[in-house]
Amino acid sequence: MALLSRRIWSTLISQSCGISGVSHKHFKSVLTKRKEHFISARWKSEKSRVEQNNQETRTVNNELSGFSSFEEMIETRRSEARKSIVVQVHSEQSCPELYSYCCQFGTVKSMHHYTLPGPSHYVIVEFGKEEDVYNVLHNSGHLDTNQIVPVRSPFLWFRIGRGKMKMETPLSKIPLLEIDGNNSPSNDDLYSWLHAAESVSDQMRILHEETSLTSLGSRLRFLTALQIEQALSGPFPRIKAYPFGSTVNSFGKMNCDLDLVLELDKEEASSDCRLIFHAKNSLTNGRTQVQRHMETIGDICQLFLPGCANVRRILQARVPIVKYRQELTGVECDLSMTNMSAVYMSELLFVLGSVDKRVRPLVQAVRTWARDVGLTNPTPGRWITNFSLTLLVLFYLQQSLPHPVIPTFNKLISMASAADKIITTEGVNCTFVRDLKAVKKYMDRQPKNTELLEDLLLKFFEYYCTFDFGSHAISLATGTPIPKPEHAALYIVNPLERGLNVSKNVSLEELERLRIEFRNAAWALEAYIKQPTGGGELWGLVAICQAPKLQAKGKNVFYIPPKLTEKPRRFNVQELFEEDLNVKDVHEKSSVMTNLTDSSPQGVASNKQSEGKAIAESVLMDIKTRPARRKKR
Ligand code: GTP
Ligand code: MG
Repeated sequence: MALLSRRIWSTLISQSCGISGVSHKHFKSVLTKRKEHFISARWKSEKSRVEQNNQETRTVNNELSGFSSFEEMIETRRSEARKSIVVQVHSEQSCPELYSYCCQFGTVKSMHHYTLPGPSHYVIVEFGKEEDVYNVLHNSGHLDTNQIVPVRSPFLWFRIGRGKMKMETPLSKIPLLEIDGNNSPSNDDLYSWLHAAESVSDQMRILHEETSLTSLGSRLRFLTALQIEQALSGPFPRIKAYPFGSTVNSFGKMNCDLDLVLELDKEEASSDCRLIFHAKNSLTNGRTQVQRHMETIGDICQLFLPGCANVRRILQARVPIVKYRQELTGVECDLSMTNMSAVYMSELLFVLGSVDKRVRPLVQAVRTWARDVGLTNPTPGRWITNFSLTLLVLFYLQQSLPHPVIPTFNKLISMASAADKIITTEGVNCTFVRDLKAVKKYMDRQPKNTELLEDLLLKFFEYYCTFDFGSHAISLATGTPIPKPEHAALYIVNPLERGLNVSKNVSLEELERLRIEFRNAAWALEAYIKQPTGGGELWGLVAICQAPKLQAKGKNVFYIPPKLTEKPRRFNVQELFEEDLNVKDVHEKSSVMTNLTDSSPQGVASNKQSEGKAIAESVLMDIKTRPARRKKR
């Protein structure tokens, strides 16, 4: 039985219970019970699990795999946004009335209810045609015009009607696709579902299914992008606000930010065109010009656009950006103007994510693990970013272990057609094959990698435990480690701009932390890869994600904290092992730790002892070579 997506559950339950008769709480509890039932009923044997793998991932990525290219996906989402309005309502009970009201102006294709903290309730109403939206907006109005900035936009609220509407449409006739569609599971719920899974591969699929950006999440982000586009469309009728990053690269989570780049009119007049627009000259310093433009756009967001709050202008950055929160969609935005290559980078990740059904769940598992053990952080700093981490996973999947799962970037370039040739205005060559079918076909002709997701995860950790970060850089172009072109703790060659290191920000200290966490995860995953009989103990993905927290609470778990503190080196060792040791004692202590873990219910192979020594040595080396301080995040 396939794992049902959140949307299908909500549709099923709303159909079986009737939306208006179900309280929100009850709705959630039904959902939870249903989900538990599905999880416990799934995958009875290893064989059926593998078969299930195919079927399920199709369900998970159904929507994405329905697109034949990145461009098609973007165009579909943009078109949905142009045909939609966002209406704040009193509650989900307002849907029938809103539906009846909207039907006066056009054909309502679908309705999507969501809530934001407050709680406040909203509905995205998608119409059949863009003209329907024009018609609705033409028939909408303002209240108290001397108290507000009277902006017209697709963001509206539904005021109480004067009398009851004469004819409310029966629920069964409303194309209401979801209720509370942006509701992510709580960590407690998620971990309990993962705990109930039957294998680590199952856990990875459940995690992916439950936390990936949904169709509603995409709609909200594309509507947020459209708002900026429309606000500037007076002087720039051809302006486009392109989402990039995790919103579109297929690795996004439900709460991911929205990275946006604005592109003004780029079309040059043809040679037979005689009427040319008058225009101001650009400033000679392009960077100053971008900063001034971004500043003005920041002002427009702050002063005119409904929902745009907490506007921050970060104009001195390499890429000047304006950050803001769109409170009506609940989306955090990073807006820039000169970063088109980042859109093509997202396209490249989308292509690689589409090659094999295991890529996305694997990336999601690694990103979740990295967040939970504190390797990544939403604020920028000297730690690895989700983007760099994703490239590490993709590079690993290019290795012959035993066969590559995805192709090298050079291969994608060699398969490009004339239509794939793209060079940005900044001169970045973004040429590579975009045809997903062609890439899959190519991979089908290669020797097959048939490893389970859990094996890929374990081998990912093992691969980077032994990777020579000291002298080698990671190149997705060739799919092989290459000598480091210049000094940097972690060097990941930007596939599109090969002279650049995408992980330049990562400090030596953070790299060491990363290595220690790779080792912790490899050990713990190997030790806890099976669900313990009788339950109770943490295992699999939950064990590797929760280990630091559990250890901080004094629980006996397999985890060596990468303590990189401000104190003298010797003291670091003492802290690490919570005992007064001199350097010589470290080896003994590492054995003690191994023995401790040996006695845990899961039992860890005794050959871990030598690895225990190795890590203790490496920790010691870290402490000897590491810069003295690790700033608090
Ligand atoms: P989350 O927002 O953390 O979910 O992931 P993300 O992939 O969206 O990352 P982020 O918002 O940090 O960056 C957005 C996009 O900008 C990435 O997907 C990349 O395409 C691009 N990007 C981020 N960091 C770098 C970098 O250091 N160098 C280059 N060239 N591009 C980057
Ligand atoms: Mg992002």
